[in-house]
Amino acid sequence: MDFELSGEQLALQETARRFARDEVAPAAAQYDQSAEFPREIIEKAWELGLLNTVIPEDCGGLGLTSLDACLITEEIAWGCGGIATSVMCNDLALTPILVAGSAAQKSEWLTACTERFLLASFCLSEPNAGSDVAGLQLQARKDGDAYVLDGTKCWITNGGVADFYTVFATLDRNARHKGICAFVVSADTPGVEAGKKEDKMGQRASNTCAIHFDGARVPAAQRLGEEGEGFKIAMRTLDRTRPPIGALATGIAQRALDESIAYARERKAFGTPIGGFQAVQFMLADMAKEIEASRLLTQQSAWLVDRGLRASKHSSIAKCFATDAAMRITTEAVQIFGGNGYTKEYPVEKLMRDAKLMQIYEGTNQIQRLVIARELLKE
Ligand code: CAA
Repeated sequence: MDFELSGEQLALQETARRFARDEVAPAAAQYDQSAEFPREIIEKAWELGLLNTVIPEDCGGLGLTSLDACLITEEIAWGCGGIATSVMCNDLALTPILVAGSAAQKSEWLTACTERFLLASFCLSEPNAGSDVAGLQLQARKDGDAYVLDGTKCWITNGGVADFYTVFATLDRNARHKGICAFVVSADTPGVEAGKKEDKMGQRASNTCAIHFDGARVPAAQRLGEEGEGFKIAMRTLDRTRPPIGALATGIAQRALDESIAYARERKAFGTPIGGFQAVQFMLADMAKEIEASRLLTQQSAWLVDRGLRASKHSSIAKCFATDAAMRITTEAVQIFGGNGYTKEYPVEKLMRDAKLMQIYEGTNQIQRLVIARELLKE
């Protein structure tokens, strides 16, 4: 076992760290306030090769690993959780093409993302089917050499700004997971329209909105895999994308610890810096413990993905542990900052708001526990 990163990985981590400190962190508060989409920053990430980590070399990508993606995501999330979500959203949307696309589909959609700056979104959740993917209702109807899509997706990250979507729809609602198909759909397809943008509590730099499909005609050539394979494509995607979510949470938590240490050194109470009090020291120590565990679990699950092994249990453990830990750690950071921590003048209340979303998206932490328990019982 070797915990050391390679020279290439250290260089990649350093590029992401510089980008996070120089470009992301200074702009984070402004985007949090305005809730505007940080297009220029995301484009800069693309120029630096930090976007689209899943694209293999034979499609023009850098051929990065899941572990590489975790290193990048943790650094960017240190700068801003919302911007990190916008960056990693492309990987989430491109992974169904990677796991189920034909050579022609990969070359059309993945290669395009390396040639020009394109944004993609993953359209799975619906108003009445968030956790219960097999219960989704977006209707797909076969019509000649195309499918016609009708229905609504919601809580779609980068929804209003994406150039294309990976969309999950059902041919037969009664067939549950066996009726689901996956498609790649261009955002300018007639009948596809972005809906209301959500006014979120945290991660306000990421764009979240509904997408409406009203008789949208999608060529059959844009179906990924066979009819009825969509559910498994979605599950295989989430197995791969949950490790970077663990890394995103670790980045937010690390920022909370760094801010807390700096504050504990400076802030005085009873005539001494508060870092001198055991009450604060123990909080910092517990935060550090949980961050180390989050990072190791995340990197272990990414390692499994990189070896092509089924990672469902470990990906869910990493996502669940790291995001619950980030919630606790950012809440503790607000406590260490006291009254100052509760105001927008200091950075920690944003970290706490940003962390909360992590326990909800990419499968709630209740769903992660369900996946873990099912895998345990299967074993
Ligand atoms: N890989 C491959 N196949 C899998 C699989 C996996 N990880 N998990 C399940 N399957 C297979 C099963 O083996 C089964 O196959 P058979 O039909 O051949 O027997 C089939 O899929 C159905 O599986 P289940 O019976 O386990 O399905 P279920 O209906 O009980 O649901 C669930 C499982 C885990 C609850 C699933 O619905 C789920 O993951 N829900 C959470 C959804 C989620 O994470 N949404 C996030 C949206 S994206 C997002 O939030 C991102 C963002 O904005 C940033």
